[in-house]
Amino acid sequence: MQSVFLIPPDSLETIPDNYFKPLDLDAVFAGLDGAPLEVDIGCGDGGFLVEMARQAPERRFLGVERLLGRVTKTTRRLARIGASNGRVIRVESHYLVRYLLPRRSVSIMHVMFPDPWPKRKHNHRRLIQTDFLDAVNEALVEGGELRLTTDDAPYFEHMREVFSVHPGFVEEPWSPGDDYPQTDFERHFRGLGLPIYRALLRRK
Ligand SMILES: C[S@@+](CC[C@H](N)C(=O)[O-])C[C@H]1O[C@@H](n2cnc3c(N)ncnc32)[C@H](O)[C@@H]1O
Repeated sequence: MQSVFLIPPDSLETIPDNYFKPLDLDAVFAGLDGAPLEVDIGCGDGGFLVEMARQAPERRFLGVERLLGRVTKTTRRLARIGASNGRVIRVESHYLVRYLLPRRSVSIMHVMFPDPWPKRKHNHRRLIQTDFLDAVNEALVEGGELRLTTDDAPYFEHMREVFSVHPGFVEEPWSPGDDYPQTDFERHFRGLGLPIYRALLRRK
């Protein structure tokens, strides 16, 4: 059966004119000038991004993902629900945060189930490191949030070691309610009965 889209999926992928200067967010999200921005780092197939965009049409949601197939799935899912407040960009996520997000532009940064790189020799590839937190801190508005979620206990321990000594963040209690959208990976891990580890860091 042919899909019927309310919005052309291609128009929901953000392709910067210039990869060496920050995005013009009001041009990316036309009609939503100055609305709060949430960023989903490594958005996968976009299940979380699409549901958040559906629940809060007054906010702007940007997913970043490096795999083409997942970017395409995300744009198709956004298009299917007619979510004009959601976009996805195909670029390396640390690059996006450090070079393409304007300073003080992000209200909430979601990092959900980042690749855990469990082998010790690969630990340095983990996204959550001090230089990434420095870049997130620059991109967040004052009082903005970084929300971290993982199923991987050793990675969560590593995250805590990194963020607990970062001078730009303070951890706050966080236990999302049942109506909080789940990511595709979260649904999978919950289905297996595995624990989920979370942290909310507020920019000082
Ligand atoms: C384990 S999956 C989690 C996906 C989604 N957040 C979820 O919870 O369902 C991690 C995702 O991050 C993407 N990813 C990993 N490293 C990335 C990077 N450096 N830049 C952009 N995307 C990345 C992967 O392609 C993958 O889709």
